[in-house]
Amino acid sequence: MSDLPKIFLTRELPPSSMKQLRERSQLTMNHEDRALTKQELIAGLQGVDGLLCQLTDIIDDEVLGANPNLKVVSNFAVGFNNVDIASASKRNIAVTNTPGVLSDSTADMAWALMFAVARRVVEGDRFVRAGRWEGWAPLQYLGLDISGATLGLVGLGRIGRAMIPRAMGFNMKVLYWNRTRMDIAEEHELGVEYAELDELLAQSDFVSLHVALSEGTKHLINEQRLGQMKPTAYLINTARGPVVDEKALVQALQSNVIAGAGLDVFENEPKLEPALYDLENAVLAPHLGSATIATRSKMGELAIENCLAGCAGKRPPNLVNP
Ligand code: DGY
Repeated sequence: MSDLPKIFLTRELPPSSMKQLRERSQLTMNHEDRALTKQELIAGLQGVDGLLCQLTDIIDDEVLGANPNLKVVSNFAVGFNNVDIASASKRNIAVTNTPGVLSDSTADMAWALMFAVARRVVEGDRFVRAGRWEGWAPLQYLGLDISGATLGLVGLGRIGRAMIPRAMGFNMKVLYWNRTRMDIAEEHELGVEYAELDELLAQSDFVSLHVALSEGTKHLINEQRLGQMKPTAYLINTARGPVVDEKALVQALQSNVIAGAGLDVFENEPKLEPALYDLENAVLAPHLGSATIATRSKMGELAIENCLAGCAGKRPPNLVNP
């Protein structure tokens, strides 16, 4: 009988991770390419030591309570708002995430959205494909320059920080707002300025969100705050959908309170506010921030190390329980 730990995986990971998991654990898994229901999660958890799950799996108190011997929930994501941390801690279940390895890919995605929406790449693509292009025109699809513009970073964790060198490459002025302010010497070294949120919203040409989702950040960007942005400004969200009040955003986009939005995340994924589908000034992506082959493979490595450590009763490298 194998003494390898028993792990339940909720959805297939990149090939290198699958190989590791098969060699280093007694693996059971969902083979279908879809998120599991609560009942399926509960069934899968029976008799295992560890759960390796995705941000689409809601790991609530009932799920955590389904297996009294569960030692670890390893989330294949940096965000962990899908897991009830208080319940896990109460049950002595370690919860882990995959920080660091996806910061560059997610910052790149924020940049892709900035370009796509401000330089109207997606609108232009639709126009060309529809066979409507009749040649160059001086007033066709005019957008906003990114070079030299002001970028406002809301949240300055790992991903927010990864935005800074990119912004420097485009000669941008960078403002940031964060729970804790850096010391002045560090701000100077990085070439960024601290601003209160109201001020950042009023001054930025691009507002890019990089806060984790919590009670404190839910609907941080609401009707009132959208109204504080410049009418020529763009909102970029690669963080979590509920940080933005999506209904208020739709209204702001419809009535040109702001110029546009580049969105990789949504309030009720995969459902969107219906009006978003029809808005030309919004670029919509299906939560692709970390979606590169290399990054997803590195996330797999971290998630596996965390899961195996937790199964062995050791402190996992990326523990998130307080
Ligand atoms: C995360 O890791 O939290 C991203 O949203 C998806 O990879």
